[in-house]
Amino acid sequence: MAKGSRQEPNRVRYNPGNLGDLLKHGWLVEIVRFLRRHNEGAPLRYADTFCGFPEYNIAAALAERIRERFHVPTFRRLQEPFLARGRYAGSVTLAGLAAEGHLRPFLFDTNPEALASFPAGTAETLQIRSGCDILDTSDPYDLIFLDPYDDIRVDCETLLGKGAARSRGASLLIFLPFQGGIQGELLGAAAERHGINCLTGIVQNPGTSLDGRHHFAAVFMPSLSLNPGAVLGLFGELNIVTARVNALADLP
Ligand SMILES: C[S@@+](CC[C@H](N)C(=O)[O-])C[C@H]1O[C@@H](n2cnc3c(N)ncnc32)[C@H](O)[C@@H]1O
Repeated sequence: MAKGSRQEPNRVRYNPGNLGDLLKHGWLVEIVRFLRRHNEGAPLRYADTFCGFPEYNIAAALAERIRERFHVPTFRRLQEPFLARGRYAGSVTLAGLAAEGHLRPFLFDTNPEALASFPAGTAETLQIRSGCDILDTSDPYDLIFLDPYDDIRVDCETLLGKGAARSRGASLLIFLPFQGGIQGELLGAAAERHGINCLTGIVQNPGTSLDGRHHFAAVFMPSLSLNPGAVLGLFGELNIVTARVNALADLP
């Protein structure tokens, strides 16, 4: 990744546009579009508490893979203007585009440079100490996105339990990179034990210099306030995104 431009995070520890990004951002775009359709009127209240930067540099090979082989049309359409200039849009930017501007972002990141990279007046900063603290608040959000690095040693059961309680009022998207094949299954089993209505998507990463060595899990817990039939349709769309990321992972 190129370093040195003002917006460029010099401590990003992965290659933007990798398989994990395609999973979480592919899901995020579908979820925001769904919530927007089902919430005509007020802007979506969106909490992104591991917000990162508005955009990143992307390696040419990863940009080409998205353009040529990642068959998720809406995601690709939203990324195209960024890819065209060697950039990759991050979660807050993508959520805003997917909501066609009808988004009210509430942000937090432990890196002050990340928070400062969002132009003043475009987002509100949350007064918390760590991203997962948002689960202990009762402020109303339409969607909470948790996107920690793997070094956040949150007990998965606790996280899912708190998430389940929070999803009475807010939808939740949690992205978890993990090592070791079994953890994806443990995640599903934990969700089942808690009786959580959620969808899990797992990408088994064969491991390359561009995609890194982690596998990736996305968990979506829809708010109880959403129509269950409509949510099933969304689950179908998210499953398609997961399948298409896994199809990329399988390519030589
Ligand atoms: C994977 S990156 C986020 C990427 C961003 N969500 C996106 O999609 O563009 C993880 C971010 O979490 C931040 N971070 C690390 N530990 C944190 C914590 N405990 N609470 C909040 N942010 C944290 C890092 O500074 C980094 O910007």
